[in-house]
Amino acid sequence: MNTPLWAKPGIDIDADIQRFLAGDDVILDREFIRCDIEASAAHAEGLQRIGLLTQDELSALLQGLAALDAELADGRYVLDAPHEDMHSAIEARLIEELGEVGKKIHAGRSRNDQVLVATRLWLRRRLQEAAGLCRAAAIIALDRAAAEALLPLPGYTHLQRAMVSSAGMWWAGFAEGFLDDIERLQATAHWIDANPLGSAAGYGVNLPLDREHSTRALGFGRLQVAATAAQLSRGKFELAALEALGSALLDLRRLAWDLSLFTSAEFGFVRLPDRYTTGSSLMPNKRNPDAIELMRGVYASVAAAKTEIEHLLSLPSGYHRDLQFTKGALVHGFGRGLAALGLLPGLLRELVWVPERMAAAIEPSMFATDLAVELTRAGRPFRDAYRDAADPARWAERDPQASLAERRSPGAAADLRLDLLHARLQELMPD
Ligand code: ARG
Repeated sequence: MNTPLWAKPGIDIDADIQRFLAGDDVILDREFIRCDIEASAAHAEGLQRIGLLTQDELSALLQGLAALDAELADGRYVLDAPHEDMHSAIEARLIEELGEVGKKIHAGRSRNDQVLVATRLWLRRRLQEAAGLCRAAAIIALDRAAAEALLPLPGYTHLQRAMVSSAGMWWAGFAEGFLDDIERLQATAHWIDANPLGSAAGYGVNLPLDREHSTRALGFGRLQVAATAAQLSRGKFELAALEALGSALLDLRRLAWDLSLFTSAEFGFVRLPDRYTTGSSLMPNKRNPDAIELMRGVYASVAAAKTEIEHLLSLPSGYHRDLQFTKGALVHGFGRGLAALGLLPGLLRELVWVPERMAAAIEPSMFATDLAVELTRAGRPFRDAYRDAADPARWAERDPQASLAERRSPGAAADLRLDLLHARLQELMPD
């Protein structure tokens, strides 16, 4: 490892201890370094605005940062172990390239506010990405809900045959779930959209830093005002982001569960393109829906990330190195979560219903509720009608589509109100 930024004469540096302190941090920082560069540029501009850098020095720093950013973007520069972390790597690079000017950028900032601002910038994008994927999923679900509104699908409660449902209701339910997820993701992004840069080590600094400038330059909605609040919020905002992502992944988990049942020979309601399945190394007959199983499993990674961060947060005020571990949990949770959501739109587009199998699983008992309500509409008190309709002698084969056509309560098969869902989507995320 390179000599740390904080090295001083007479202070002994032990390689093993340094390795433990750094851990995989510098590798994780590959995720955040471009955000750190973006914030470094805003910080440098701020220093020029308060007279700590000349215009030429600022231009040199901005060029140096842009060059590093470009090299990171196309892979010419790879952040690696000789550096303690991304912050050290950026400063080392500026000093190497610009000499004295490079040494000036760290005035008035700390790695503590650097990591905070980089994480917030990173999360803002990740939350937007997650919302975009939920939007794509919701659009497909709404389209298919309209197209398959009256396609009969057995409806279960307790996994027991309950009433006739429809593919349309199945789709509309998930569509509305994804709309809720978009709203949560956006609300969280809005809450996170506050600028911690300029809080320095957590207690401000004896410079009139232009925090309004960095707030504007980085496109933050507001300033995180109290210097102490910035550190107090570390971990807390990552947790909230994972919570919002987790909300989408809970929907995905349930959807994947449905598909794993529906694609089994026992149900046989859905066929998936072969691409979503794998074979068995031993059993030549098998096609297994591994993709949907891993989509279902991903929630565990987000739950684990939340748990890890929650445990790390048992701390008093101020910065503590424990907080470094929040990054691994965050990157892992978002990495897997976004990858799973990324496959969702394609899966939804391509899954194929098997109407004969769906119809075959609908049995006369599943019309008993329709019968009870019909008797009620004819004037019999519901409780009496319920008892009449419980008699298997009164059950008969019926046309499931006719049953669905009568399901007129708002939100049910004959009145899905997809227009309301479309309008809400448009409001949340306009085209
Ligand atoms: N890698 C560190 C983290 O993620 C950066 C901040 C280091 N600050 C410090 N005072 N040692 O927390």
